[in-house]
Amino acid sequence: MAKTQPIPALVTEASLPGFPRGVQLRQDVTRHRWVLLAPERVLAPDPLALDILLRCDGRTSVAEIVDALVQKYAADRAVVLNDAIAMLQNLRDKKFLIDCRGATTSAGPKIAQPAWTGAAEAAIGESANAHALPIAMLAEITHRCPLQCPYCSNPFDLERSSSELSTEEWKRVIDQAAALGVLQIHFSGGEPLARKDLIDLVAHATGAGLYANLITSGVSLDSERLSALEQAGLSHVQISFQGTEYRDADAIAGFRGAHQRKLEAARLVREIGLPLTVNAVVHRQNLHNLSGLIEMAVELGAARLEVAHVQYLGWALRNRAALIPTMAQFEDATGIVEAARRRLQGTLVIDYVIPDYYAVRPKKCMGGWGEQFFNVSPSGKVLPCHAAESITGLAFDSVRDHPLSWIWNESPAMRKYRGTGWMSEPCKSCEFREIDRGGCRCQAFALTGDASATDPTCTKSPRHAEIAALAMGESGMDDRRFEYRRFSGRA
Ligand code: SF4
Ligand code: FES
Repeated sequence: MAKTQPIPALVTEASLPGFPRGVQLRQDVTRHRWVLLAPERVLAPDPLALDILLRCDGRTSVAEIVDALVQKYAADRAVVLNDAIAMLQNLRDKKFLIDCRGATTSAGPKIAQPAWTGAAEAAIGESANAHALPIAMLAEITHRCPLQCPYCSNPFDLERSSSELSTEEWKRVIDQAAALGVLQIHFSGGEPLARKDLIDLVAHATGAGLYANLITSGVSLDSERLSALEQAGLSHVQISFQGTEYRDADAIAGFRGAHQRKLEAARLVREIGLPLTVNAVVHRQNLHNLSGLIEMAVELGAARLEVAHVQYLGWALRNRAALIPTMAQFEDATGIVEAARRRLQGTLVIDYVIPDYYAVRPKKCMGGWGEQFFNVSPSGKVLPCHAAESITGLAFDSVRDHPLSWIWNESPAMRKYRGTGWMSEPCKSCEFREIDRGGCRCQAFALTGDASATDPTCTKSPRHAEIAALAMGESGMDDRRFEYRRFSGRA
């Protein structure tokens, strides 16, 4: 594996392309193909792109790769060079490749064989969207968390530690997930570090061939545990930040001293050499500092920054009046992100999730209900998304009662909104139905009371104008009070 710098921004014939830590070219044995696994990304290269990637061992120059391909395919060198550089530059800009000049690397995997048809750069795309097999599992191993963010994606009815799956039960779920075709596991919560067996679970997941992400608040991450997690095979760490100003960030998290601890955790992650993603949930009370958040991510050495506007479900829906940005704030934020993307190309990849209420068309939530992803709750309930339990009337099957493969393929809740067969108008006859799957089912339920309705964030929804007016109205309120996430009832 390639380790180091320097990293010239432009790929040339002299570049020595290799994979940085946290990016893995692997065989996907379930789907009989190769995949490039990166922090929260799965790419499926076509045969030409793969033929290039398999030669990216950090020691072979682009010129040598191209020469080998010219010989293999009896193709025009200028054409192959152009295709190869375009593809490699694209991956370099996304931080899936580095230039290993001056670095020590290990050899890449061995190759296959086909015919040069050109344009390899177009061949790298997000993994195909067939629903048949899940790509990722969100393992919410606990709902315990030291923070109380008012936009937490956990359900209102938080699950107690007494109901959590045991270590052995989680290991069985992990094995079943790997057998089902899952490629990435996201250890999340609550705060996953609240579980004493996290290191054991990460080791088990990587042993089962899964790419392991840790999604954490960072406040309880120390060097000893991080080192053990790294030894266990952890590939990537995502740390959430509530802002850049200590007092404000701590107030949003509901935890004094949280911001300082997060900064320290991020420093430890970079010090140990793991790739870092900074996750910044943005809203009316912290958007004024968006530029500062971006600079903070650069200073921390993050490879990726997720600027995610709050999605108004669950706890966030309860706190919408205190969180929703004005249209002007949203437009400013979009401009800041676009400018930063241009300025920081090759340094920081910025993912931007816009606030649904200001969208024209909805997003394809979770890549489609039950099509690419599932979430396992602390007690073992399998959900198509983190907010699915907000839809009343759906019953979610548990890994305690059924094998994961049965739940994925047969569970009524998992099948309920899969594909497009459940749609009514206007989605049913809409040209975008395959693209966005009618938007978010949880949002449709939250805003209309009908989970099979068109997501009202779509301009074609009969409820769209009403929702947009509501957002505009609330965003102009001077309401800064939060209802913090908390366990209800008795402990
Ligand atoms: Fe998507 Fe439905 Fe809107 Fe068409 S009507 S754009 S399918 S949400
Ligand atoms: Fe549940 Fe969008 S969050 S479908």
